[in-house]
Amino acid sequence: MSKDHKIFAAIDVGTSKTRLSVARAIEPGSIEIIALAQEPSEGIQMGLVKNMDKTVQALNLLSKQLDQKIEIYKVSVNLSGYQASKSFLKQASITRQRQDMQIAQEDVERLEEDVYKLVNEPGWSILHIIPQYYQVDGGDPIPDPTGMIGNALRAEFNIICSNNQATKNVDTCLERAGLQRESFVFSPIANSVAVLTEEEKEVGVCLVNIGAGITEVALFKENALRHATTIPFGGNIISSDIAKIMGIMWPQAEELKKQYGCELIEEIEIENRTLNLPVLKGHPVKEIDLYHLIYVIKARVEEIIALVYAEIKASGAEYNLGAGIVLTGGGAQINGISELFHQKTKYHTRIGSLCTEPFAYISEEMKDPTYAQVIGILISEMNSSGHALLGKQNIQKVKSKGIRKKTIYKILGGFKDLFKDEDQPFE
Ligand SMILES: Nc1ncnc2c1ncn2[C@@H]1O[C@H](COP(=O)(O)OP(=O)(O)OP(=O)(O)O)[C@@H](O)[C@H]1O
Ligand SMILES: [Mg+2]
Repeated sequence: MSKDHKIFAAIDVGTSKTRLSVARAIEPGSIEIIALAQEPSEGIQMGLVKNMDKTVQALNLLSKQLDQKIEIYKVSVNLSGYQASKSFLKQASITRQRQDMQIAQEDVERLEEDVYKLVNEPGWSILHIIPQYYQVDGGDPIPDPTGMIGNALRAEFNIICSNNQATKNVDTCLERAGLQRESFVFSPIANSVAVLTEEEKEVGVCLVNIGAGITEVALFKENALRHATTIPFGGNIISSDIAKIMGIMWPQAEELKKQYGCELIEEIEIENRTLNLPVLKGHPVKEIDLYHLIYVIKARVEEIIALVYAEIKASGAEYNLGAGIVLTGGGAQINGISELFHQKTKYHTRIGSLCTEPFAYISEEMKDPTYAQVIGILISEMNSSGHALLGKQNIQKVKSKGIRKKTIYKILGGFKDLFKDEDQPFE
């Protein structure tokens, strides 16, 4: 491997799979994925390490899958789930000495420094701070205060925190596997850089990552993350429902879920509604009614959709998501899920796949929504380290301690105000 090309590696610790991606920055604006791999994740549940040995084993197996010429030491890792991460809004303000002089970038940075001092959450550390809006002398919310004349500079930030115990456990597993953690990236941010376009983030979009153990909901508007939350179940609960209700084994339920999904019953033709499934040796085959099966899958998917919709409504984004909903994660592959989201919420819904920028080439594997997260972690890390000057769509208004100078600052308006549109009719 040429020493001219810096290598970046990322790991997604998921409930069903631990995934690895490795890339090299070829030239500004262009990167190449040189490895993608996955291993079953028996030691991780909902973003938390539950079994150290099994997690280390998965990491070792991933490293073994790499071409001998590719050596990795430092990796960036996702931070997922409501137990490992939390986000909240915080306001901060500073008073300037020289109110007759224009507000400079240094004033904005001083305000941001204050946020780090203001937040005191025992057991938690700040991972990212995301400016929502600025105000000068109590005026209207504005995206960028630099150049304005004023005395008091105030702002609201979306603070993303990581749980110290959770991150320590991940670090310990990495060390035992001979790896060192470069950074943590909040999972919705990683997914957004992989699958959302600049335009979608600008006009308003709800990104839904349906994993195995959790479903992450993130709202973007004016190119900033405004709200993020976790629903404590994902695709695996559907398989558990099928297994319990139909009286079959979990792996069989998982297969049936993948094969049939929740395609609207009236739109599919099932010539023979009954499926004969061998379950246990020496026992009679199970008769599975396919209508019933799809009904069970659909019921749980509808529950996920209802919870996502409730989150959108609670955030104030209900009437102002110009780009609708984008689905990613393994659960986005459930047959008919995108149509069902559209039918239930009326939002335009699409399955997110990897944005072409900054990749010269995208393979079929890279388009798989289950790889979006681990590729997004890579892009985030390359972006913030300044090694790959990525395309416009991947610039995030996210600041993480130590890399703030390399990020872009451009925010418009406050969250509630941004999403509020009084003229829209209620349904
Ligand atoms: N083709 C498919 N059809 C239906 N469901 C699928 C398909 N492929 C994967 N899934 C489901 O997606 C889920 C796994 O998604 P993913 O790999 O994104 O989760 P994870 O990252 O391991 O877990 P988490 O993010 O919850 O910690 C599983 O429930 C799996 O059954
Ligand atoms: Mg995941």
